[in-house]
Amino acid sequence: MNDFLHPYREPYLPPPYPYDLLDQLRVAAVERFGQAIDCSIGTPIDPPPAAVVEALGSSNTERGYPPSIGSEAYRNAAADWLHRIAGVNLDPATEIGAVVGTKEFVAGTPHYLRMRQPDRDTILYPAVSYPSYEQGAVFSGCRAVPVPLDDQWRMNLDAIDPADAARALCLWVNTPGNPAGGLDDLAAAAEWGRANGVLVLSDECYIEFTWDGPPQSILQHGHDGVLAVHSLSKRSNFAGARAGFYAGDAELVHYLREIRKHGGMLIPGPVQAASVVAFGDQEHVKHQRELYWERLQVGCALLRAAGAEVDLPGGGFYLWAAAPNGDAWALARLLAERAGVIVSPGEFYGDAASYVRLAVVQPTADLQLALDRFTGVHGSES
Ligand SMILES: Cc1ncc(COP(=O)(O)O)c(C=O)c1O
Repeated sequence: MNDFLHPYREPYLPPPYPYDLLDQLRVAAVERFGQAIDCSIGTPIDPPPAAVVEALGSSNTERGYPPSIGSEAYRNAAADWLHRIAGVNLDPATEIGAVVGTKEFVAGTPHYLRMRQPDRDTILYPAVSYPSYEQGAVFSGCRAVPVPLDDQWRMNLDAIDPADAARALCLWVNTPGNPAGGLDDLAAAAEWGRANGVLVLSDECYIEFTWDGPPQSILQHGHDGVLAVHSLSKRSNFAGARAGFYAGDAELVHYLREIRKHGGMLIPGPVQAASVVAFGDQEHVKHQRELYWERLQVGCALLRAAGAEVDLPGGGFYLWAAAPNGDAWALARLLAERAGVIVSPGEFYGDAASYVRLAVVQPTADLQLALDRFTGVHGSES
């Protein structure tokens, strides 16, 4: 029997969900201020455009099963959008497949890649990153091998051991990066993948929140051996609807589309219809960019007031701050108790125990209130 079908030697128990570990801090914030200003999870709070929400109820697509690969309209809208913002030319007929939010793709694809190439067993991913890259490796019974980052939080591709590269099914890159906001050199990543015969999966869900320079996609550097992964969750505040796509190498897209069809991965029809409207609109993203940029400034001031070292990120809507004395949990407690703000300790994202991440996903006024509490503008009880 093929060993790869039985990768687990012992029963697997999922680790505690990281954000549940923050409950005590939430209690402290609520006790003191009546409610918490939760900046721990990167969940959008602003509304999607009204036309997108209206389209959810008027598509007449409820009765039948939706296409797993995404309707033609969905794939066309995705391709047009990526062309508009990044100058990428995609063939919607062969180079795009839909995903039910990108988290399922991140966590599930290593399993499918392993089925495709059972002689390989390694997933490479950024050492400080979104936790689902590692989880996807674990779920597929693969080795999760973190790739070190440089002092700008970019992947150090030279540090990848050739023995790991030879076993690798894929290399994940994430630009702009969560949690640290770094911007990788995607041309170098694509080149590394082709030179080593390793698929590069480029998670680009924050592409329109790039602050240093224009939006970058790995598809600007050819389509062979690479897939870009995109989401409507962040750009359109549509995380509750679950819609995204992967695009690039036609052979891989074909394989994944077939497998995912068999697995019943379907974006509901009304969500596909509403997504077409979301992909078609840039105005709301322009507005969202302004909101996040404003909130990043206030969040930065708050973290600095609390004694952290922090700079504005190259992209994304997270602030990645070095805690005073390297004690991230102490900083998280201080922010909860003195300002009602909940942040995530860096250990949630890998080997970064001295950092905290603050997601600027609360209204600017709430962040300002937190800053005022900290600096004493409204007195200590406000
Ligand atoms: C880097 C990164 N990738 C993927 C996702 C998943 O987004 P979604 O499943 O909503 O598309 C997130 C969400 O926070 C993320 O930060």
